[in-house]
Amino acid sequence: MSIIAAPRVAVIVVAAGSGTRLGADMPKAFVGLGAHTILRHALAGVFAGPEAQVVIVAPEDRLGDARTDADEAAGSRRDLVSVVAGGATRQASVAAGLHAVWPDVEIVLVHDAARALTPPDVFARVIEAVRSGQDAVLPVLPVVDTLKKVAASTVVAAVDRADLAAAQTPQGFRRDILDTAYGAAGADFTDDAALVQHAGFPVFTVPGDERAFKITTPADLQRAALLATPVTPVHPFPRVAAPRVGVGTDVHAFGGEGALWLAGLEWPGEVALHGHSDGDAVAHAIVDAVLAAAGLGDIGTHFGTDHPEYAGAHADAFLGRTRELVEAAGYRIGNVSVQVQANRPRFAARRVDAEQVLSTALGAPVAVSATTTDGLGFTGAGEGVAAFAVAVVLPA
Ligand code: CTP
Ligand code: MG
Repeated sequence: MSIIAAPRVAVIVVAAGSGTRLGADMPKAFVGLGAHTILRHALAGVFAGPEAQVVIVAPEDRLGDARTDADEAAGSRRDLVSVVAGGATRQASVAAGLHAVWPDVEIVLVHDAARALTPPDVFARVIEAVRSGQDAVLPVLPVVDTLKKVAASTVVAAVDRADLAAAQTPQGFRRDILDTAYGAAGADFTDDAALVQHAGFPVFTVPGDERAFKITTPADLQRAALLATPVTPVHPFPRVAAPRVGVGTDVHAFGGEGALWLAGLEWPGEVALHGHSDGDAVAHAIVDAVLAAAGLGDIGTHFGTDHPEYAGAHADAFLGRTRELVEAAGYRIGNVSVQVQANRPRFAARRVDAEQVLSTALGAPVAVSATTTDGLGFTGAGEGVAAFAVAVVLPA
């Protein structure tokens, strides 16, 4: 008796769109849906389905954020995840994902992150149909509305809905067929089944699921918010309907390149601090305090060296993203108090400027104070700066 290994499967999750029709101030996949991003919800469905390589296609400047969601969703199976940058169209994004699929994969599913609440059994159904011999498999729903063909605001024909089906994702393909169809693709198609059909392959349908609807407009997001259940908790703290407090500290040594950035301000003529970003210990202490208050991990979880987009970033980028994370988790920031210990720079003349810049970036009042340490310790010796922050978050 020979044991035949099951064909290896990959799921490409396309999340590189801008979400123009949703109209949020960030790419759609990173918009909050309850306590998590749309992408995080989509990945919960993917990882609850059959085991597969998971290729996440994200906007170039969101690769690190996608990686954070992926690591959380993958748990102990981080080895299964790749994160790659997308293209200008959905088709270009799928093509980018396809390049990252492992050589031994035989079945590829392509899934819209925007279909965030797709249940795991849809993935299983699609994979099973490809395994049992179909070239291309499309999950569909019957059309329930009465349809009309309209031109210039006038009905020109009735359309028999019995002939029609609404296409969803994940769409599944034999890997060689999807590679061939993408290799030959000339025109732009809105989904992969259309591209594969155009390349001459039959597309088989299986039942989709009402919950696999695509979040396209603000009304869709509202509907999704009513249906979404929290995925595996990010942290062990239950959300409580009371203020929560967090503490954060940071230290950076003098001797970095370029200008000094501290407390969100540039300090011409002062010695710069070392750091992966700009070494702004004040901003980093605030980030840790706010994230801790919301139970969202720490600065390394969201801005570590695996987030290249934050290399060289200033306080506004860190604090703006921290605010997004906290708000996506269902909190708002109450206030922050931060104290910096340093011989230099002298804060007295610019303390209020610093408060303004930090408060604007965080969307909440930040009080800044500064002190020296009577010549004691590394701050007293002028080797670096230390910052200590306390933050309060409130249920939104
Ligand atoms: N997508 C992508 N790369 C693109 C465009 C879209 O990866 N260049 C992804 C989206 O992230 C989404 C899926 O394709 O998960 C379906 O696209 P759509 O719902 O149209 O999302 P957006 O293009 O982001 O939204 P809009 O068309 O409103 O801008
Ligand atoms: Mg689009």
